[in-house]
Amino acid sequence: MQSIVNKITELEKISQQLEVPEKERASLIKKAGDYTSQFITNLEHIKSFKEEKNASTLLAIKNKKSSMEHLIQLYQTEVVEKGIVAASGGHLGYIPSGGIFMSAIADFIAAATNPYVGSFYASPGAATIENEVLNWLKKIFSFPQSAVGNLASGGSISTLIALTAARDKHQIKNDKITKSVVYMSEQVHHSTQKALRIIGLEDVIIRYVPLDENHRIKVTDLEKLVVQDKQDGLNPFLIVASAGTTDTGAIDPLNELAAITSKHKLWFHIDAAYGGFFILTSKKNLFKGIEKADSLVVDPHKGMFLPYGLGAVLIKDKEAVLHSNQYLANYMQDAQIDDITHSPANVSPELSKHFRGLRLWMPLQVYGIEPFIACLEEKLLLILYFREKLVEMGFEVGPSPDLSVSYFWYPFETNRDQKNKQLMQAIHDDGSVFLSSSIINKRFVIRIAILSFRTKLSTIDKALNMIASCLKKYL
Ligand SMILES: Cc1ncc(COP(=O)(O)O)c(C=O)c1O
Repeated sequence: MQSIVNKITELEKISQQLEVPEKERASLIKKAGDYTSQFITNLEHIKSFKEEKNASTLLAIKNKKSSMEHLIQLYQTEVVEKGIVAASGGHLGYIPSGGIFMSAIADFIAAATNPYVGSFYASPGAATIENEVLNWLKKIFSFPQSAVGNLASGGSISTLIALTAARDKHQIKNDKITKSVVYMSEQVHHSTQKALRIIGLEDVIIRYVPLDENHRIKVTDLEKLVVQDKQDGLNPFLIVASAGTTDTGAIDPLNELAAITSKHKLWFHIDAAYGGFFILTSKKNLFKGIEKADSLVVDPHKGMFLPYGLGAVLIKDKEAVLHSNQYLANYMQDAQIDDITHSPANVSPELSKHFRGLRLWMPLQVYGIEPFIACLEEKLLLILYFREKLVEMGFEVGPSPDLSVSYFWYPFETNRDQKNKQLMQAIHDDGSVFLSSSIINKRFVIRIAILSFRTKLSTIDKALNMIASCLKKYL
C-alpha cells in the first residue's frame, strides 16, 4: 500500500503542473489579453490576405517545452499572418463575420468553468442558456415554442441534423432511397449535398430547379417537376430552399415554396445560415414564409458576427429529431429528465461539447440586439455603395442583391473570363482586402460578401482603390 501512495505522490508532483497556480493565472490571462487586444488594434493596418501554399514546419509538436511568449510569437507569424485574416473587416470573401470580442470572452469563461452542457441534469444552468438562445431564435423566425433545436458547430452540422430528421420523418430507407427525390437550387450551399451523402442518401434523385434572373428558384418549375415525378411513381420528399445563397445572397420565394411543399407534403428545409439574421432588418418582407419551414438552419457565426463555431438548427417535428439522436445508455441512467429535449445531446449527434450557447447569450445580454441590427443594415448599404462605385469604374455587376453578397466582372473585350481571373489573382497578390471568385452562369466572376462587423465604409473605399489599381495593369 505504501508503495502505491509513494508512487501517487511522485506522479502528483508532475501532474500538478496542469493546475496553474492563482498568481500565474492572472499573468497568463494578461498575456493572452494583451496579445489579442493588440491584434485587434492592428487589424486596420494590416493586409487581409497573404497566400501561403505550404504548411509551416515550425508548428510541429516537438518533445520540448516552450514558453507562452514564444508560442504567441509563433502563432502570430505562422497562423495570423498567413492566409485570410478572417477577423479583419477586409475579409470580403466566402462568408465573413469578424468574430466579436465579447464572444471570445464568453468562450474563455465557458472553457475555464467547463460545465457539461450535453445533459440538462449535469448542468441545468448551461443547458437552460442554450435552450434560451434557441427560444430566442424561435421567436425571431416565428417558429412555435414546441419546435426543438440545437446549437451546433456551424451550418454544416446543423444541416446534417435537419436533413436526418427529414429522412426519418419520411422513412427514406432501403429500396425507397433510389426512388426519392430532393429539390434544390443549383445555388444551394454544398453542405446540403454533403449532408445527404453522409446520412446515407447519396442515391436519392436530386432535381436542380431552374432559377430566375435573380438566382431564385422558379416556383412554377418546381411544381411541374414534383407533379411529373409523382406521375412517374417517384417519391418527392424534400425541398431545400435558401434564405441567402452563398454565391449571390439570393432569397428563394419562401412563401410560395411553402404553399407547394404543404400541397405536396414535402419536408420544407430552409438554409438561412448566411442570410437568416437579415430578417431583423428592413429586408424582413423577403423572409415571409420562413416560419412555415419544417426545419431551418441559421448561423450566428455569420449574421451575428460571432467567432467561428456556432450554427443553429430549428426543427418542428420533435419525434423525427429524437428518432435519430436520442439514446438511453445504461451509464446515463441518472441523467434522465422529464423533457428530454432540454438536453442538447438528445437533439444532436454530439454528447460532450463546448458550451457554445454562452458566446451568443452573453453578447446579447450585454449589448442588446440594436447594434447587431445596425450592423446588418450597414452591410446592406455598403453593398449598394460598392456596386455603384464599381459601375462608375466600368465594371459590370450581377443582379441587384437581396442581401449583402454580390458579384462583378470587368467587360474586357476579349478573353473576358481569363482576364478577370488574372485580375482576381492580382487582387489576391495585393491582399489589402480579400475577395473570392465564383462561376455564375458558367462565367468567371469576382464575388464580394460584406458581413464582417468590422467592414466599414473606409474598408469598402480601400477595396475599391485596390481594385482600381489592380485593374490598371490589364487596361
Ligand atoms: C448558405 C450557407 N449554408 C451553409 C453553410 C455551411 O456553414 P458552416 O461553414 O458553418 O458549416 C454556409 C457557409 O458559408 C453557407 O453560406
